[in-house]
Amino acid sequence: MGRFFLLRGRTYSLNHFFKLATAEGAENVTRNARSAGLTHQHVKVAGSALGHSRSLLVTQSAGKTTGLPSSLNDIFALPPGRVTPSLPKMAAAVAEQVAAFGASTPDQHPVSQLLWRSHSRDRIAGQWRRRNGLAALEALNGDGVDPLQTFDRLMASSALVRYERQEARHGDLNFSNVAVEETDAGQFNAWVFDVAGGVAGANVRDLATLEVTSILHQSPCDAGPMSELCRGLFSGVLSADASYDSAAVTARGSNTHRFIVELRAQALRRATADVYAILLFDEALMQLGGLDFGSSYNKIYHPPDSAYLAALAAGLVTRTAANLL
Ligand SMILES: Nc1ncnc2c1ncn2[C@@H]1O[C@H](COP(=O)(O)OP(=O)(O)O)[C@@H](O)[C@H]1O
Ligand SMILES: [Mg+2]
Repeated sequence: MGRFFLLRGRTYSLNHFFKLATAEGAENVTRNARSAGLTHQHVKVAGSALGHSRSLLVTQSAGKTTGLPSSLNDIFALPPGRVTPSLPKMAAAVAEQVAAFGASTPDQHPVSQLLWRSHSRDRIAGQWRRRNGLAALEALNGDGVDPLQTFDRLMASSALVRYERQEARHGDLNFSNVAVEETDAGQFNAWVFDVAGGVAGANVRDLATLEVTSILHQSPCDAGPMSELCRGLFSGVLSADASYDSAAVTARGSNTHRFIVELRAQALRRATADVYAILLFDEALMQLGGLDFGSSYNKIYHPPDSAYLAALAAGLVTRTAANLL
C-alpha cells in the first residue's frame, strides 16, 4: 500500500495497492482490472508494468473515503451491535456490484451443466476420505448427505433447470476480495475488487462463492468451526422466507451468520432456491476438491470443515431441489 507524491512532493494521492506478482498471467490480471474499471466506478487502475519475470499492478484503494479499507475478516471480529446494522446494505451493495459486471438473460440447461466443468470426482472422493467425511456425516445426524452421491445424481439427471445466465461475473469473489470501508457515520460499506473477469455463468454464482468462502476461509472463531456454527443455515429447505436461528455464540459467528442470511436474501431475489442451493453445493465441492492443490489449502483455514460443509450443502440440495435429482 502506498501513495504517489504529487506536485514535487507538496501533496500526495489517495491510497493505492501495489500488487507485485509473477509475469505469468499478468496480462490477464491487468486486463481484468482495467475492464472492471469500465463497469465499476470504485475500481481504478493507476498503472501497470510487465518485466521478464515480474509484473506490477497499481490500483486505487477501493471505496469512497480517504481512509484505509479493512477486510470482512477484520470487521466480523467486531461486536455485532456495531456490524449488524450495516450487513443488509453491504450484502445489497455486493449483489449490485456483481450484477454490474454483465447483462443477464434467462437460460435453460440440464442441471449437470450448472456445475463447474472441471470437477474431478477422484479428487473429491480422495479428499472426502482424507478429511474424514464419514465422521462429518455421522455428526450431522441426518442434516448431511454423502456429497459424492449427490454429485453423481446431479450429473446423471436429465432434468432441465431454468436460471439467469450472466455474460460476465466477478469470477473470484472469495472472502478476501471484498474491501470494507467505514463511513463518517460509523456505517460499513462493501466494495468488491481483484476481479477475475470474463467468465459467464449463473448470475448468483459469485454470491455462492462468497457465502461458502465466508465459512471456510475465515480466521478461527473461539466458539468452534464456522461450518458447525452455520449448520442451521443448511439444515432445512432453502427458501426466500426461511427463518434461521442465529449462531450468536461469538461476534465472529454471529456476524458471519447474519451476513450469510443477508446474502441469501439478495441471491433469492435473483435466482430460484433450487438454483442457489445447487451453486452452494458446487462451490463447496470446489473447495473440497481444491484441497488437492498447494500447501496453503487454498486459503481454507481448517480442511476437515470442507468435508463437513460439502455434506451439509449436499443435504440442502437434496431437500431443496429434490425434483431435479
Ligand atoms: N484496490 C484495493 N482496494 C482495497 N484493498 C486492496 C486493493 N487491492 C488490494 N487490496 C488488499 O491487498 C490484498 C491482496 O490483493 P488482491 O488484489 O486481492 O491480490 P491476491 O488476492 O491475488 O493476492 C487484498 O486482500 C486487500 O487486503
Ligand atoms: Mg484477492
